[in-house]
Amino acid sequence: MSDGPVDPTGTAAWSRLTALAEGFEPDLRAALADEEWVRRSTLTAGDLHVDLSKNLVTPEIWTALRELADQVGLSARRDAMFAGERINVTEDRAVLHTALRLPADASLEVDGHDVVPDVHEVLGRVYDFADRVRSGAWTGVTGERIRTVVNIGIGGSDLGPVMAYEALAPYVQDGLECRFISNIDPTDAATTLAGLDPATTLFIVSSKTFGTLETLTNARLCRAWLLDGLTGHDEGEAVARHFVAVSTALDKVADFGIDPDNAFGFWDWVGGRYSMDSAIGTSLVVAVGPERFAELLAGMHAMDEHFRTTPPEHNVPVLMGLLNVWYTNFLDAQTHAVLPYAQLLHRFPAYLQQLTMESNGKGVRWDGTPVTTGTGEVFWGEPGTNGQHAFYQLIHQGTRLVPADFIAVARPAYPLVDGDADVHELFLANFFAQTRALALGKTADEVRAEGTAEALVPARVFTGNRPTTSILAPELSPSVLGQLVALYEHITFVQGVVWGIDSFDQWGVELGKQLAQQVTPAVGGDDDALAAQDASTRSLIDQYRRLRSR
Ligand code: F6P
Repeated sequence: MSDGPVDPTGTAAWSRLTALAEGFEPDLRAALADEEWVRRSTLTAGDLHVDLSKNLVTPEIWTALRELADQVGLSARRDAMFAGERINVTEDRAVLHTALRLPADASLEVDGHDVVPDVHEVLGRVYDFADRVRSGAWTGVTGERIRTVVNIGIGGSDLGPVMAYEALAPYVQDGLECRFISNIDPTDAATTLAGLDPATTLFIVSSKTFGTLETLTNARLCRAWLLDGLTGHDEGEAVARHFVAVSTALDKVADFGIDPDNAFGFWDWVGGRYSMDSAIGTSLVVAVGPERFAELLAGMHAMDEHFRTTPPEHNVPVLMGLLNVWYTNFLDAQTHAVLPYAQLLHRFPAYLQQLTMESNGKGVRWDGTPVTTGTGEVFWGEPGTNGQHAFYQLIHQGTRLVPADFIAVARPAYPLVDGDADVHELFLANFFAQTRALALGKTADEVRAEGTAEALVPARVFTGNRPTTSILAPELSPSVLGQLVALYEHITFVQGVVWGIDSFDQWGVELGKQLAQQVTPAVGGDDDALAAQDASTRSLIDQYRRLRSR
């Protein structure tokens, strides 16, 4: 891995793609009339049925995209990641979230040490802890069983667990609930704790570094709330029975006052946004149980194996990653929508925002040289059909190209009927109809044929040729959720490799943190610190102080 990244714009494939993009006139009406095109564009990865046929590509474009992957050395970089090479060069770390879901009988050496037994040792401790909470064997300091688990964490130490907890709600044990505190806005802690009984509440402080201001502040607030509610009990005992921690920095956990026996570790080769399948997922394990969590890990591993071993022409993460490159770099798309037709996935777009944008929102390559292409599109989305009644107008008729992934499951978690109607089928009719409408559009003649007055025809025309990928799974099981998460992890990786960037560092979050530390005294009334700010910041803080003192 010592050679620098390949400049994708210098490859023959890039020139070919540039030529193919020039004057490209997609015709999804013709493509979708062709059974063979649809058959060849429909793939399977694990339990996921993936229909790529409604994308703005041709066989020639697919060939050139696969050549691009070849010419930038995608498979060598993928193999280096799976083998534990230090591909996170700016932090000098291996990138081994895939090791978190290896089966116990596998082995993977990093610097001469097999990490798989370590992974399973921690997993075993997390499972044992979760079983004790779930069975009531683990009690709070008053002897009562735990009813609520509050995860305190932010970024990857929050978004993955909360997304998965919401997605797997039907599997959560009766009588147990999880809540999540992330924001340092005190409203978050106040509203999340409201109505909880300290005697039956257990906190999991989740922080890879155990140095994150938001998380440590919230952990202190929660500790004070707990002790306040449990006066008369020994404080050390109360913290020991009501606080556990997850971190790579176990020394700092002890400094905070949490018994190291109540801490679960992980490793610097797990990035924060790739960590929901590490001990960071402890709240989820408590909620759904070790068996279900193991199914989630197995689903992720199945997708890892698909990515690692499937030839490029059938490799779903490779093809979806390359499609994103095509749209971003050749068709000038700036954003990418992810639209789950599954209410349980309502936090999936938010989770993907960190995964994709913290990974690929970079302006330099992994050797420190500037990128040679656009990178990191903006990911966003909301569950259908809510999105349909909010922003789909722009996707259907706006001036921007918005590639979109539509995700649905065949079997609903809650099969309700409205009279004779199966409500899930009413819902999924939208999933099928929207991608069709986006692809085919409606011509002026078709609008006229509906009897529309001529003056209104332009407003009612749909250009069509708006690209979508449809992903259909049997049901939202833990395994399917794991497959979806790993799918998007690998799509993100593929894009990062083409662009030559380190998708595993996040230096872009540092400056804001540093400045917040500098600004804090000024906000608190220190005039020297205020004087050190620029004019706009000074004026804003002045105004804040005036408003606050009223
Ligand atoms: O936002 C920066 C970041 O470092 C993320 O990458 C990470 O997921 C989050 O902060 C939380 O970090 P930690 O788990 O160390 O508290």
